[in-house]
Amino acid sequence: MSRLTAIGVGPGDPDLLTVKAVRAIREADTVMCPASAEDRPSIALAVVESLLDRSRQDIIKMTFPMTKDPDILESTWKRNAAQMAGEVNGGRNVVYVTVGDPYLYSTWIYMHRELERSHPDMDITVIPGIVSMFTFASKVGVSIAEGAEKVSIIPSCYELSSVREIARNSDVMVFLKDGRYFDQVIDILKESGFPDDSLFAIGQDLGTEQEIVRRLTLGDVDRGVLTTKYFSILVVKRA
Ligand SMILES: C[S@@+](CC[C@H](N)C(=O)[O-])C[C@H]1O[C@@H](n2cnc3c(N)ncnc32)[C@H](O)[C@@H]1O
Repeated sequence: MSRLTAIGVGPGDPDLLTVKAVRAIREADTVMCPASAEDRPSIALAVVESLLDRSRQDIIKMTFPMTKDPDILESTWKRNAAQMAGEVNGGRNVVYVTVGDPYLYSTWIYMHRELERSHPDMDITVIPGIVSMFTFASKVGVSIAEGAEKVSIIPSCYELSSVREIARNSDVMVFLKDGRYFDQVIDILKESGFPDDSLFAIGQDLGTEQEIVRRLTLGDVDRGVLTTKYFSILVVKRA
């Protein structure tokens, strides 16, 4: 039956797929997945690779360039959503796999918005996935929020000037989207009065063989050994 299901595949470890996700992926005719460029692998696809039957299922990689140019983004979303709609309208049972959960900083958000506009009658289901920051919390053994604590989630690869003010009003700060900006974040946190004995935990490539997890304090951070990767998380918790 033709339909579209967006699936959060979790942070990278195939054992963290939900039962519902596994069933939907196995039942699909077409598995669509995002990648940053034609010659780059799709991380979401790698997570579900062992479930695929390539003799029966079509695998379609769609590119989403890592750019902030609004024109390129707009045309990318339109092109990819049109391709997705083409598959579904061709009578296929289509799944779109995405890392973590589909509604946290995911390409799916733009696909959904575009499809709702262009194909308002399309039958769409969304299966949530385990969010990277909660995987990280489990690995480090730290709560993302407790009691009256206020949490902020910051995408590090955008303008960081407002973070100083946010830091003054947050107990826990989660930085996602590109560890290469975390150096700047440390300065901002210190300037905004985050105590030196605050927890400072960093994770990179969680759920893969390259995984790195470090638990420090803000005062103990030495810059040289921080993450260099886009797939990084930083959790800072006020002491
Ligand atoms: C485009 S966002 C996708 C977030 C995802 N939808 C989620 O629910 O976690 C990508 C960012 O999520 C974080 N991330 C996702 N998976 C990760 C992993 N396996 N290891 C480390 N960071 C990860 C990183 O901050 C990365 O830059």
